[in-house]
Amino acid sequence: MASNRKILLLPGDGIGPEVTRQAARVLEYFDKRRIASFEVKEDLVGGAAIDKHGTPLSDAAMKAALEADAILLGAVGGPKWDNLPFAQKPERGLLRLRKDMQLFANLRPAFVFAALADASTLKREVVEGLDMIIVRELTGGVYFGEPRGITNLPDGSRKGINTQVYTTDEIVRVARVGFELARKRGKRVCSVEKANVMEAGVLWREEVTKLHAAEYSDVQLSHMYADNCAMQLVRNPKQFDVIVTDNLFGDILSDCAAMLTGSLGMLPSASLGATDRNGRRKALYEPVHGSAPDITGKNLANPLASILSLAMMLRYSFDMDNEAKLVEQAVAKALAGGARTGDIAQAGASRISTSEMGDRVLGELQKLA
Ligand code: IPM
Ligand code: MG
Repeated sequence: MASNRKILLLPGDGIGPEVTRQAARVLEYFDKRRIASFEVKEDLVGGAAIDKHGTPLSDAAMKAALEADAILLGAVGGPKWDNLPFAQKPERGLLRLRKDMQLFANLRPAFVFAALADASTLKREVVEGLDMIIVRELTGGVYFGEPRGITNLPDGSRKGINTQVYTTDEIVRVARVGFELARKRGKRVCSVEKANVMEAGVLWREEVTKLHAAEYSDVQLSHMYADNCAMQLVRNPKQFDVIVTDNLFGDILSDCAAMLTGSLGMLPSASLGATDRNGRRKALYEPVHGSAPDITGKNLANPLASILSLAMMLRYSFDMDNEAKLVEQAVAKALAGGARTGDIAQAGASRISTSEMGDRVLGELQKLA
């Protein structure tokens, strides 16, 4: 019988394969214990795909992605491919996946594990207990807006253009994801734009306000300009429950929020499409961190963001909330037990490798089960 949990692994570049391997071990664990069976395939994305196929995402890999129930991606990009023309860069592979699968809602939680409150660059009291989530619009805005490009001007100088564009539908569908999430959490949504300088921001604010009044008045809605939001994130991040924002602001603010937790190496994400008639949705899960070329291949990277991305997959794609919680608890226990990769270790504290961190999490899973 074909598995109804088809997973495509796209480890990608840099530390991607190392961290994805540790997340795959967690899947294998559930499989072996017969808790759930998964059909796991693997393909190339990013620079790895460029080296093999001359393109950052082959049509075969795109097809496999569309057939999968969920994708776990590692990271894309690296210095080797930095000088390629824009349209051939590794990042285009990831952007094509997001666009062609219409993964419009990107969930980026920022959660501070108790054991790591001191790993943040901010004071313990500012970040301790932080539990917020950014919902970033992922298939519109300036990332994809037309016109775009670089043109030559008559005087010999050049012009670079990108366009910020949003339609009602694009705003409403992502805002809806934010409100729905808030209902299951702290019931507060903060919508973020630059309505003071951008028409797309004015529209954003108006549409979110309308949707709120029509369907979500049980949720508390506030609005904030993106620059202020950046400031509030480092001043008092615990004021936020759910932030809903556009593609570019979400990119920037989520890096900022990630760092509150101590390390970019800790943060998972989920990119979700619309729910179809059967209640299923296309989904891609990936760590927020990048390919980290400086530590690639050294077994030093922190695999927890990938493992936590897998937990999000269990929760959002496979309705396995209990197993997702188990994985999250195993991570928390491993951290409480002192397991630290270099990125989250205090000066002088001992550090473990990528695979040892995987061992620790699996060990805790076994104890919990
Ligand atoms: C992210 C990354 C990507 C983005 C890059 C790799 C294209 O920064 O997922 O946040 O800008 O969206
Ligand atoms: Mg980013």
